[in-house]
Amino acid sequence: MRRELIAGNWKMYKTQKETKAFFDNNLALFSQNDKDVVFFVPFTDLNQAVQSVEKSNIEIGAQNVHFENEGAYTGEISCEMLKETGAKYVLIGHSERRKYFGETDQMVNKKLKAVLNAGLCPIICVGEQLSARQSGEYLEVIKNQVFNAVEGVALDERTAIAYEPVWAIGTGKNASSMQAEEVCSFVRGLISEISKEASEKIRILYGGSVNPNNIKDIMKMKNIDGVLVGGASLKPDFVKIVQYDKQ
Ligand code: 13P
Repeated sequence: MRRELIAGNWKMYKTQKETKAFFDNNLALFSQNDKDVVFFVPFTDLNQAVQSVEKSNIEIGAQNVHFENEGAYTGEISCEMLKETGAKYVLIGHSERRKYFGETDQMVNKKLKAVLNAGLCPIICVGEQLSARQSGEYLEVIKNQVFNAVEGVALDERTAIAYEPVWAIGTGKNASSMQAEEVCSFVRGLISEISKEASEKIRILYGGSVNPNNIKDIMKMKNIDGVLVGGASLKPDFVKIVQYDKQ
């Protein structure tokens, strides 16, 4: 059985002070669960967030990382730097990184190798644009993103893949649970072509306008092991998503 993973991606929201206040006010509520719960916070909030959740079962992750150990890469952060903060997870290849910061499948692949070598847990993000959904080419897009990302990598249960269709991110228009399941099941099939064992162990998440009202339907799906939540993870109400099975 795969353990459920509910993750919040704060993107470029919350200062250190706001991060401290969020956990001071809500940590006890969020800790009442039997799932893996992870908050992906801005780099400058990592130390504070790790300190805030120290005595709980909540984990902290970073939203990006550079694939080199160190070097003349102004503005970048290495895996070792992340590890020292106490972060355990890293997002790789989020569609906003691909769209605004030129992140390619090849960079995603290098980052995945670096993150696994460092002993951190990666969540690889994949997802098609609206045009590929409309033209019916979305599975082809997902296939390329997944195979390019994992090329030459021995996957284990630390790795998760998040299917986040770009048209569903921040739009309030989530993919239907059937649409999400179709792609998540397809992704598991792709991984099984590489390793049957890995395909049974790795967690596949859905992301894109997840909220307290649609979480139950999404989590009913056989191949969806969790969610990656943007906007709705910034508010205390995120606990309704984390504890969707208790409502
Ligand atoms: P929203 O939940 O705001 O649509 O964002 C999804 C996302 O990009 C999570 O990484």
